[in-house]
Amino acid sequence: MTFENPLQEPGLMQKILDPCVMVIFGATGDLTHRKLVPALYNLSRDGQLPSQFACVGFARREKSHDVFRQDMQDGIEKFSRTQPIQKEVWDHFAHQLYYHRSEFNEDEGYQRLATFLKTLDGECGTKGNRVFYLAVQPKYFPMIIEKLKNNGLIYDESDPQGPWSRVIIEKPFGRDLASAEQLQEDICKHLSEKQIYRIDHYLGKETVQNILVFRFANAIFDPIWNRKYVDHVQITVAEEQGIGTRGALWEEQGMLRDIIQNHMMQLLSLVAMEPPVSLRADAVRDEKVKVLESIRPLDLSQVVRGQYGPGYIDGEPVKGYREEEHVSPTSCVESFVALQLYIDNWRWAGVPFFLRAGKRMPKRGTEIAITFRDVPGILFRQSKEMNRPNVLVIRIQPDDGISLTMNCKVPGLTGPVFKPVKMDFRYSSYFGSAPPEAYERLICDCIANDTTLFARNDEVLASWRLFTPVLEQWAAPPPPSFPNFASGTWGPESSNDLILTSGRTWRFI
Ligand code: BG6
Repeated sequence: MTFENPLQEPGLMQKILDPCVMVIFGATGDLTHRKLVPALYNLSRDGQLPSQFACVGFARREKSHDVFRQDMQDGIEKFSRTQPIQKEVWDHFAHQLYYHRSEFNEDEGYQRLATFLKTLDGECGTKGNRVFYLAVQPKYFPMIIEKLKNNGLIYDESDPQGPWSRVIIEKPFGRDLASAEQLQEDICKHLSEKQIYRIDHYLGKETVQNILVFRFANAIFDPIWNRKYVDHVQITVAEEQGIGTRGALWEEQGMLRDIIQNHMMQLLSLVAMEPPVSLRADAVRDEKVKVLESIRPLDLSQVVRGQYGPGYIDGEPVKGYREEEHVSPTSCVESFVALQLYIDNWRWAGVPFFLRAGKRMPKRGTEIAITFRDVPGILFRQSKEMNRPNVLVIRIQPDDGISLTMNCKVPGLTGPVFKPVKMDFRYSSYFGSAPPEAYERLICDCIANDTTLFARNDEVLASWRLFTPVLEQWAAPPPPSFPNFASGTWGPESSNDLILTSGRTWRFI
């Protein structure tokens, strides 16, 4: 069954979803506990899951269905966006949760899974439809997909009326260009492109989806959304939290792979893309790819990295990166990246885009700020220092919303004294209820066979093509002198220098 993108019909957000079983690989991991199962619980609470549904956690640890349910209940109690947990909803949902123990490389475990899923089809009416969610370390993706295929769990779907099987793959998709190409080659032996859902949860955030609506459903923005009016664009993803318990993974990954290559490039492409011919998944993705492919190869001197040392967050002392669990005391992995890039197309030629992402920043905040050019300054010369450029800020989180800073005369009789004032729209105060979490939207979209908010292979490769030279340079000696900034500050001095040399400064978010 195919569905229109809900953006096309804002009044018709409720999708009809086929019955199915979702199998989560990595069921004892952080993502399942913090995000995936709380998302499923909230979908169940809001009546958004198919009525015939089951979820099976697949992992290597020995565990009963009941213990798994108990763990998941703890996760929902801590991390669900709706609190407290509703007993009737939980009781119903808990009966749809199951656990399956197996090694990832054990054929026998997949055969048992196949038998178990058939039993669930009989008991729950899930009709053979499957979503396999790979919330595991990237190195396991090809093996799990191969085992699923060899054990008859992934179908070739030649019969459009027959059952379907889809695979959601967590980011990052590969470690660099060559490994992403290899991964694609490996998984394509077993899956068709329409069965692959490369998840980037930023695309499921309401505020990120709103970028398209904001830009293309309002007549006033497009005429000024270009090099003639825009001075520069800043995109920031700042987090107060450090790497927490993810030291081992982070040591393999670093900030460029964790956030810049995927989440930030998605934000950038949505902000910079041309209007798509329609809201069909491929039409939107075609335009995003064009942006990524128009980015000038990065000037490596314009990409800086940092690593947090000990410091203070909210007045509390915190450890440096090298003291975190499972991190080498001499690690050269970056927890902060800032860079400048240019999009060489007709709309954006010459407009610098500044991106920065960091852990252990003074505050949490994700935003896109578009700073417009100065007015000529003929009329209001004496007010120069008060006369600030207009800035349009799309705040992704927290306090999701949009603000516009503009200059305004201060009331009074003594001359034209200016002050920048802000027009501020906040989702929470306007729409009231908390929006669904990104994972809720994306799980629903996968069940509904809507790939619009998932990354296509050429998008992923275009992004890796851009960043692989940076990774290669960083892999070669000499290593940087890390840590190079204290936790609770806005990154290393080189980040300020990067933007200052262009005559601009980072925004205080
Ligand atoms: C994940 C990254 O993809 O996104 C994490 O791996 C990061 O390091 C997280 O903390 C941020 O997500 P959000 O939704 O809190 O901005």
